[in-house]
Amino acid sequence: MKETLERWSSRRAFILAVTGAAVGLGNIWRFPYMTGENGGSAFLLLYIAFVVLLGLPVMMAEILIGRAGRRSPMQSLGHLARAAGASPHWRWLGVFGVITVFFILSFYSVVSGWSIEYLVESINGNFAGGTPQAIGANFNDFLADPLRMTFNHTLFMLLTMSVVAAGISGGLEKLNNLLMPLLYLLLIVLAVYATTTHGFGTAMAWLFTPDASAITLSVVLNAMGHAFFTLAVGACALMAYGAYMPDHQSLPRAVAAVAVLDVLVALLSGIAIFSVVFSQGLDPGEGPGLMFVTLPIAFAELPGGSLWLAVFFLLLLLATWTSSINLAEPMVATLQGAGLKRGRSAALVGIAVWAVGLLSVLSFSTMADVHWIGEMNFFDLVTTVPTDVFLPVGGLLIAVFAAWVMSSEAAERALDAGPGGFRTWRALVRYVSIPLVVVVLLSGLF
Ligand code: PHE
Ligand code: NA
Repeated sequence: MKETLERWSSRRAFILAVTGAAVGLGNIWRFPYMTGENGGSAFLLLYIAFVVLLGLPVMMAEILIGRAGRRSPMQSLGHLARAAGASPHWRWLGVFGVITVFFILSFYSVVSGWSIEYLVESINGNFAGGTPQAIGANFNDFLADPLRMTFNHTLFMLLTMSVVAAGISGGLEKLNNLLMPLLYLLLIVLAVYATTTHGFGTAMAWLFTPDASAITLSVVLNAMGHAFFTLAVGACALMAYGAYMPDHQSLPRAVAAVAVLDVLVALLSGIAIFSVVFSQGLDPGEGPGLMFVTLPIAFAELPGGSLWLAVFFLLLLLATWTSSINLAEPMVATLQGAGLKRGRSAALVGIAVWAVGLLSVLSFSTMADVHWIGEMNFFDLVTTVPTDVFLPVGGLLIAVFAAWVMSSEAAERALDAGPGGFRTWRALVRYVSIPLVVVVLLSGLF
């Protein structure tokens, strides 16, 4: 297949697309509950370290492969490998990425569906004056209702796939550009409100007092997986976007801004959520329901709470929408690369992901006690293994490919950061990022 001629309309459009992919449920939903389950500050510290040492360099590796190949991930890898005299089997890395995004999108859509439900419920004023107990019970009632959950999941998949079917999502990016600052503003308001609650001090201490004794192997593994997830790295999803990156744009500069923003959004949401947790005596390790229980409680105390809660869920939905579009892109690009029409590829991908998503829906009711591996039901499995294992393994192979396998001239051109910038990046990937993932993954195995 030939190079794609499609490009983001400007450098800014590319940065917006990558920001859209990065900022999503990972920051506002997953980060707080993972931090809660992993003891607070230890997880936060490791996560930031992994973002800097692994996430950023590998993010550049991933995008530069797409940019140098200008094809679907699978074809870019195969093409660049052949050009460098390496094995064309590298293209299977693209398939591994497709498998990863497939499972991630299957639960991502279900949880985004929760936001749709909460948007509607806040418009209806269901949370107004609700006690923490009532708000918690409301969430459990919803989870126990597979029909309502399926409806929202279906709606979200339709939203996602209709944009993907139309090609590069220019319109949506513009909308996002307009509305995401409002989401950040709302998070800032929430964090400022959090400073007035009596749980704020405890939350800050719990988040920011380093406690080396709390670092365990599983905390390290979870923090590494989360760093990949939140930056959207390791699944060839950003590689697919890199194929449309315009010429004459320095990659490191573009992605550094995205990573800073991504971490800030997570921190704001963590501060807001844990202040509520400690003010109300809730359990930080409550799990995936954490955000859906704490934020309605926080907003209930603010003037005009229901309205702002609705606005919040609407904006969150936009944020997750742009992430899910990115998750779908490598799958659709791969089918398209195999000769299918874009619309048909999107329909096929949408139906398959939707069907597997139903297993996550049922994991809260009929299939709650169906254990797939160990004690994990399907939702537990699909929210952990693809993120904590597949993304780091994929990221490792991407890093090896970009820093050791493909031609360094092509890599240097695609990084677009000058010879010095290229050498610094490559040394970082070769001697820091790659060994770090290998060591952490191996210690997880043994
Ligand atoms: N980065 C997204 C988030 O934080 C999730 C994502 C993971 C998107 C992997 C694309 C690829 O919500
Ligand atoms: Na993120």
